[in-house]
Amino acid sequence: MAATIQTETCPLCDGTGWKSIPAGSHKDERRINERRVTRCDCRLQARNQSLLASARIPRRYEHCELASYSTDFPGAHPSLERAHFKAFRFAQEYDPRDGVGLLFTGTIGSGKTHLAVGVIKELMGKGVPCLFYDYRELLKEIQNSYNSTVQTTELDILRPVFETEVLVLDELGAVKPTEWVGDTVSIILNARYNESRTTIITTNLPNLPPGEYKNNLPSTSKEAARQAWQDKTLGDRIGEPMRSRLHEMCVIVELDGNSDFRKGARSASFR
Ligand SMILES: Nc1ncnc2c1ncn2[C@@H]1O[C@H](COP(=O)(O)OP(=O)(O)OP(=O)(O)O)[C@@H](O)[C@H]1O
Ligand SMILES: [Mg+2]
Ligand SMILES: [Zn+2]
Repeated sequence: MAATIQTETCPLCDGTGWKSIPAGSHKDERRINERRVTRCDCRLQARNQSLLASARIPRRYEHCELASYSTDFPGAHPSLERAHFKAFRFAQEYDPRDGVGLLFTGTIGSGKTHLAVGVIKELMGKGVPCLFYDYRELLKEIQNSYNSTVQTTELDILRPVFETEVLVLDELGAVKPTEWVGDTVSIILNARYNESRTTIITTNLPNLPPGEYKNNLPSTSKEAARQAWQDKTLGDRIGEPMRSRLHEMCVIVELDGNSDFRKGARSASFR
């Protein structure tokens, strides 16, 4: 526990990792000289840094913060503001005992991954260990582990995925479902569900049962949606039992509408 990470001497704590602060309130004159020790900021920062380093956030999303998520660019759908608020409140009120995560659904480029990363960065700031995995990347890594020339085993990869306090699974359902894919995703989600661990998921598939795609196209721009969502529902991709399990594990956060931030941001900068 008391491993010394810091090599430069911190001026606040002389490198001890503990600093002393006044024990009582200033109103209580009898206790004005009493001090108590508390963890120094340098150690909290070091912990935050090491959590960030081990969270595997891809470089492309390193810039994502809840504070940098904008909801008032031209064409922004009102659902973005609601989604941002839900993400913010989730991070503020996070309690590991709840075991309830978030499921961000919505169109491409609506900022689902941005919000998911923003949430785990907030949590890591509070000392909560988090892990980010792209769904396709995770499946690929597991598959590679079956290759006898690599040293890592399937369990080496899965153990942190099972055990991390908060897992982000980005782009759930983004690969063609095979029996192996289905088994693997259900092992992961069930393991986390059984241990009441928090899972944050993003998907651009419509959150609908299998075969429901055609009957439930969004009212706006059907053709664009058809292309973007590739004719598949989340239920088609992960199976209905898994989809309904997700509804027990996560609060659903929908980012609707045709609000591609990238387009909005570009047109805004030409004004
Ligand atoms: N409202 C926003 N405010 C600030 N940046 C945003 C916003 N929406 C998206 N972005 C930025 O745009 C890029 C795309 O967003 P992001 O990857 O989060 O979208 P997505 O919904 O996950 O898309 P996909 O379905 O393709 O995975 C990111 O760099 C992100 O930081
Ligand atoms: Mg994404
Ligand atoms: Zn210090």
